Amino acid sequence: MQSDLKILNLALDLKILQPQILHAKQISSTNTYFLQNHPYPNGTILLADYQTGGKGRHGRIWHSPPGQALLFSILLTEIDDRAFLHVYTFMAAVAVFEGLDLLGGSTFKLDLKWPNDVLLGGRKLCGILVQNRLVGNETSQIVIGIGINVNQPANFFIGELSQGTSLNITLGRNMDRIEVLKRVLVGLDRWLFILGDSGETAIFNRWKALCSSIGKRVLVNDGRQIYTGIFKDLSSQGGLVLETDGHCRVFYAADVTLTKETSDVGCN
Ligand code: BTN
Repeated sequence: MQSDLKILNLALDLKILQPQILHAKQISSTNTYFLQNHPYPNGTILLADYQTGGKGRHGRIWHSPPGQALLFSILLTEIDDRAFLHVYTFMAAVAVFEGLDLLGGSTFKLDLKWPNDVLLGGRKLCGILVQNRLVGNETSQIVIGIGINVNQPANFFIGELSQGTSLNITLGRNMDRIEVLKRVLVGLDRWLFILGDSGETAIFNRWKALCSSIGKRVLVNDGRQIYTGIFKDLSSQGGLVLETDGHCRVFYAADVTLTKETSDVGCN
């Protein structure tokens, strides 16, 4: 273990995740650390106060000022061969949603955005990056990286971050990051247990129940073309099923936005 990692005992009663977590004041990226350093047991968590090279989707950088966001990764070494990577993304998003939902009152509106965001009041509160390490053709470990904007002030979200928000902005008060972490980990632990016990169906169903854009008209940008249609469902592998002119297309990597004239449409 690196000497600059300390152990923090969260004193939580967990089935799969390790309550004794690794803590770094500064690290390049919690995801990259786990992908490069493997001698840790299943369910180890690494929390950082600051990342100098935080990773986002599509090779983007994940920016967070020191000590203000919750930046952590979970290492999984006992992997269900049948589960697709998207399942872990959905599971993390559901756990973040459920863990934070009771923090605010009626104006505290969380939502899920396919494939990996948790929104608060329509703005990005949390991003999730799931990565795997392959040995030959086999996934030997999965790293679930979660970044939650906790205490950043409004003036942090400018320029390319202008679609972001933090708990502080909506709640009007600073939050204890460890308390927020504990809320999320309790749910993650429960969903990991459910995944191991009965497979991914419950996770998919819960994700769909919490995602307000299912059944709505959306724009899907796959980097080459923009499609408009109804977000009908998740495919069995977690892809976005878009219905356009009676024809279904499945996307595995794309950006989704609700259209302005969003209408509710059934999605049987
Ligand atoms: C996204 O682009 O929305 C995904 C962002 C994921 C950021 C988190 S922060 C903790 C973990 N370590 C990383 O380098 N990235 C993830």
